[in-house]
Amino acid sequence: MANFTISVIHGDGIGPEVCAEGVRALQAVGQRCGHAFTFKEYLAGGAAIDATGVPLPDASIKGVKDSHALLFGAIGGPKWEAMPHHLKPEAGLLKLRKELGAFANLRPALVYDELLDASSIKPEVLKGTDIMVVRELTGGIYFGPGGITGDGAHRVGINTEVYSVAEIERIARVAFEAARLRRKKLCSVDKANVLVSSQLWREVVIAMGKAQYPDVQLSHMYVDNCAMQLIRDPRQFDVIVTTNIFGDILSDEASQLTGSIGMLASASVGGPVGFFEPIHGSAPDIAGQQKANPLATIGTVALLLRYGLKLEAEAQLVEKAIRQVLKDGLRTGDIKQPGCTILGTRAMGDAVVERLRTVA
Ligand code: IPM
Ligand code: MG
Repeated sequence: MANFTISVIHGDGIGPEVCAEGVRALQAVGQRCGHAFTFKEYLAGGAAIDATGVPLPDASIKGVKDSHALLFGAIGGPKWEAMPHHLKPEAGLLKLRKELGAFANLRPALVYDELLDASSIKPEVLKGTDIMVVRELTGGIYFGPGGITGDGAHRVGINTEVYSVAEIERIARVAFEAARLRRKKLCSVDKANVLVSSQLWREVVIAMGKAQYPDVQLSHMYVDNCAMQLIRDPRQFDVIVTTNIFGDILSDEASQLTGSIGMLASASVGGPVGFFEPIHGSAPDIAGQQKANPLATIGTVALLLRYGLKLEAEAQLVEKAIRQVLKDGLRTGDIKQPGCTILGTRAMGDAVVERLRTVA
């Protein structure tokens, strides 16, 4: 029996709807396995701007740092797009990642047999795909020096990609270790033919592989080629490690292998408190309509249990419950298939909770 404090940031758009189902899944795990979860809600993103004027109030940072893990919904929407750059909802999210020191973003893309036909890629290409994208999350071009300067036609917008050896080593270590627990294959993705920051990245990863991980089969790919290979032959990949911006792009692409971005969970770790969020974003077009797929958030709860609370058996229980609803032919609109039952957000959450009580 253990007590855990979980901070919850619902955010904007579909964030509140999907987070509610994540919380219910966690409560069901608690009931079944004898853990007590105390949930504390904090503001970030557009909701925080509306309430306090800033996208990440200090109280949210403090509250999250005092908890065991953070379950995060999604932030952003058209309402806040015209805000100055540093006050946009996205700025709050980036600040939170940085504040928590969550430099390693794990984005597993697992293709369930039940959803083979839900993807736009041919089932025979997809079957068995199981990729872990390890994205560097607190550095690179997202955080390098930049700004807009000059006048008229000479105004320039600048962003800079900066990576130090220490930053590359720590993210590569997470990826090598992840590969060791999987199929022992690591593909490092960069643009070393053009960018010097990528040249250093590749150099450091090669040196680490030789010195510390000779048992892991290491390969390198340019990001443009990787984008192509992911849809040509996704099964060639086990773990992918890459920079902040390349990981952002490639993980959205990988999500489409699974049938829907509504299926993809993520864990951001490396600091004292792990940060767990579905990758799909706030989807303002369907917000408040009970149409959103909560399985990405419930999958995120599995990652929270595994990486945040070190409760592996509980994590597997959640993953089994997700698989079982799919086996039982239950779907949300984004993964609908002929002959299946289409459910809304809450009803899909109910279905998972029910199975969480019974799956073995
Ligand atoms: C993601 C998102 C964010 C990112 C945005 C919302 C800032 O796209 O988590 O992938 O670019 O990191
Ligand atoms: Mg993204």
